[in-house]
Amino acid sequence: TLPKVYVTRKVPPDGLDILRKSGQVQFEMWDSDEPVPRVELLKKVKGCDGILCVLTEKIDAQLLEAAGPNLKVVSTMSVGFDHLSLDELKKSVTILACVFSRGIRVGYTPDVLTDCVAELTVALLLATSRRLIEATHEAGEHGELYGYVVMNLQTAQLASWDLGGLVRNGMRLKPFKVKKFIYTDVAPRPELANMIEAEYVSFDELAKQSDFLAVCCALTPETHGICNWNLFSKMKKNAIFINTSRGGVVNQEDLYEALSTGLIAGAGLDVTTPEPLPTHHPLFTLKNCVILPHIASASYTTRNAMSALAANNLLAGLRGEPMPKELKL
Ligand code: GLV
Ligand code: GLV
Repeated sequence: TLPKVYVTRKVPPDGLDILRKSGQVQFEMWDSDEPVPRVELLKKVKGCDGILCVLTEKIDAQLLEAAGPNLKVVSTMSVGFDHLSLDELKKSVTILACVFSRGIRVGYTPDVLTDCVAELTVALLLATSRRLIEATHEAGEHGELYGYVVMNLQTAQLASWDLGGLVRNGMRLKPFKVKKFIYTDVAPRPELANMIEAEYVSFDELAKQSDFLAVCCALTPETHGICNWNLFSKMKKNAIFINTSRGGVVNQEDLYEALSTGLIAGAGLDVTTPEPLPTHHPLFTLKNCVILPHIASASYTTRNAMSALAANNLLAGLRGEPMPKELKL
């Protein structure tokens, strides 16, 4: 019989076509745009050889336990992998007094979404700096925005957390004549930085010098909550904070304080904790905060490319071949 696969979301058609046409797997899918309920997921993965998931599914000890020893491949349709317990995936387990390495392989989808995410980062930057959302609400009401001077990108210093992110965003922002690009990262990366003449600075300098600070790093134990009061209190009063990575890198109480007291000028967030953010959340009461429901990679083309890559990763993994994009555990 063919390997059994569970697909945890109604993913875009390209990926499903690849699975179907391969003739290599039998798969079942949670046929909905809403996340699969946890109880249902735990039932469905039982006995599966492969799982194709999205970032709303926690792949942890409980789930691996529920899936059982057949599971060989987890393929996530995302570039981020903070929803996967990597330690659990590579852990050894004892079955009938024998120790086995789970040896589960993991595929993910970097690169194919890069342009799309960078585009949204720039969109957030423009929406916040020119106060587009606020202005839409005020149009026709002749409120305080009429004649108000908003931030001029041509005098701005754009900073980024992660140089990869800075280069992607920086390339797109060059036509806006941004004055200077600065970045921090675990170490300087001159080859990339030279592409947009970006200068490497310390974390403190990044905070102090930026007019726009865009966070593009992965969520890891090291970056968890790293955007907190310590950061916001060092930033300029006219600075705008943009986050298209993961909500978990931000201490949201501190961000709310910083925005509501005018410590910083604005924020553009594609990601929050939790997602979706409850409608009564205080951040929604702020005029200087633009909040999106995690849509950075949500273009038709990009999501299709992600689903195709996730399907190809899954099939290669099940055949025991190298995956097009495999996460090294
Ligand atoms: C989106 O956030 C992703 O990780 O793909
Ligand atoms: C803050 O005032 C903003 O630009 O959104």
